[in-house]
Amino acid sequence: MIRLLSYYRNAELHGAGLLMHMANMEVEASALINLTRHISDETRHAAIITRHICDLGGTPQRVRDGYQRRMARAGGVPRTLLELYAATHVAESRARARYAAHLGSVHVDPKVVSLLRSISSDEEWHLKWVEERLRDLAATDGQSRVDAALRRFRDADAVVCADLAALERETFGFTFSDAPLL
Ligand SMILES: [Fe+2]
Ligand SMILES: [Fe+2]
Repeated sequence: MIRLLSYYRNAELHGAGLLMHMANMEVEASALINLTRHISDETRHAAIITRHICDLGGTPQRVRDGYQRRMARAGGVPRTLLELYAATHVAESRARARYAAHLGSVHVDPKVVSLLRSISSDEEWHLKWVEERLRDLAATDGQSRVDAALRRFRDADAVVCADLAALERETFGFTFSDAPLL
């Protein structure tokens, strides 16, 4: 569990790092306001996951092959603001789906439920505002560019998540993303 939570922690921190990078590139005022709140949410998520790891008697583990690093290998490093927003949109969709699947899993540890619920409650807004920003960018840069970037990172995400699921099955004998048993 500490290893898995360390992966979550790594993804939250890495996400915050990308958002900080975007805040340095962004010029639109309302997007800057949203980016600042978003950074604060992701670093808080990393902090509460870290606290949970410590409460379990562990310490955060170094993760060298987390979601974003694998995404960079599979889909390339996002460079333009449009690519960064597209990559963020894909990562946020994945985070929301993954935390929901973990919460719905028959294997979920009751102690992790409130942690995942509190993180998930922020992810809806992250997805919503990033979607709005991508709509604005489509109006100026072209819908086809936005669509191409989203396709590129969704394809990478499918590869990365299949690999992570295989790693998880190898470690636990199941994945928290498996459909719940009815
Ligand atoms: Fe988060
Ligand atoms: Fe998020």
